[in-house]
Amino acid sequence: MSLATLATMQDEVKALARERDAVILAHNYQVPEVQDVADYVGDSLGLSRQAAATQASAIVFCGVHFMAETAAILSPDKTVLIPDLDAGCSLAASITADQLRAWKAENPDAVVVSYVNTTADVKAETDYCCTSGNAKAVIEAIPADREILFLPDLYLGLWLERVTGRRLKIWMGECHVHAGIRPADIVRWQEEAPDAEFLVHPECGCASQCMAFGNERTHILSTEGMVKFAKSSPKNRFLVATEVGILHRLAKEAPGKRFEPVSEEALCRYMKMITLEKLRDSLRDWKHVVAVEPETAARARLAIERMVAIA
Ligand code: 13P
Ligand code: SF4
Repeated sequence: MSLATLATMQDEVKALARERDAVILAHNYQVPEVQDVADYVGDSLGLSRQAAATQASAIVFCGVHFMAETAAILSPDKTVLIPDLDAGCSLAASITADQLRAWKAENPDAVVVSYVNTTADVKAETDYCCTSGNAKAVIEAIPADREILFLPDLYLGLWLERVTGRRLKIWMGECHVHAGIRPADIVRWQEEAPDAEFLVHPECGCASQCMAFGNERTHILSTEGMVKFAKSSPKNRFLVATEVGILHRLAKEAPGKRFEPVSEEALCRYMKMITLEKLRDSLRDWKHVVAVEPETAARARLAIERMVAIA
């Protein structure tokens, strides 16, 4: 698409959003041209907070399906649209509500903490949701004598055990994008870029994360945490271990600093299903509506509201 066509389509999207009283929310992994027309770009926690607080009558969610579902649960009186219904999440698909019910039956006294990357049905079986932005605070909010079932991300769970000192029962799910970032890439970069800081998402494989312990150049952060860190750091060079979409946001928010991906292959094909064209069609044709069955939504809402409330 030429720059002129792109600019025309972006104007069209903004005009449609105004006309339809819709707010455009975009995750940090969205393609640059979608991030650039969004009213708010952020991580899962920030997007949930925006979805809960918006005054607009509709939300167009440029992200993956569980994020749109979370928005629909938090704002039941608003229309929530997603530009492509196939934008799923392999991590969210790693546990079903039936599997969680069976796990709970084996551990009847445990508190269930679910990462927000789960379906609404799984959230309905959950006590607390969390995101990578507040997972540590959520675990710390649970009395120390309570057993915790943590799901579905294995690596986030292992990292939480290290930073909180709590023992958790952890589901063995993983995100194929983050699990695919190899420790060898990080080791190579640490040698080749001695002047760089490393920004690592907690969904990354355990060996990659482990490099953060005892290494003051490595920081385990949510995607929004990465942006805040890079903006306030006096350093100029950053190696980024997460999905490559974040590089656009980083470059925009911290101009003049240098950002490089640890792995160019860290690309989420689900996030990339949302295009500017599909966003335009979504607003124009009022599709695809994401709705959660009211009883499931009511049960899931408490866990999500706890997540939104914990800093
Ligand atoms: P954040 O909450 O850090 O934005 O991460 C969401 C996600 O899907 C990571 O893969
Ligand atoms: Fe899901 Fe991984 Fe894509 Fe995030 S990067 S949306 S966890 S598949």
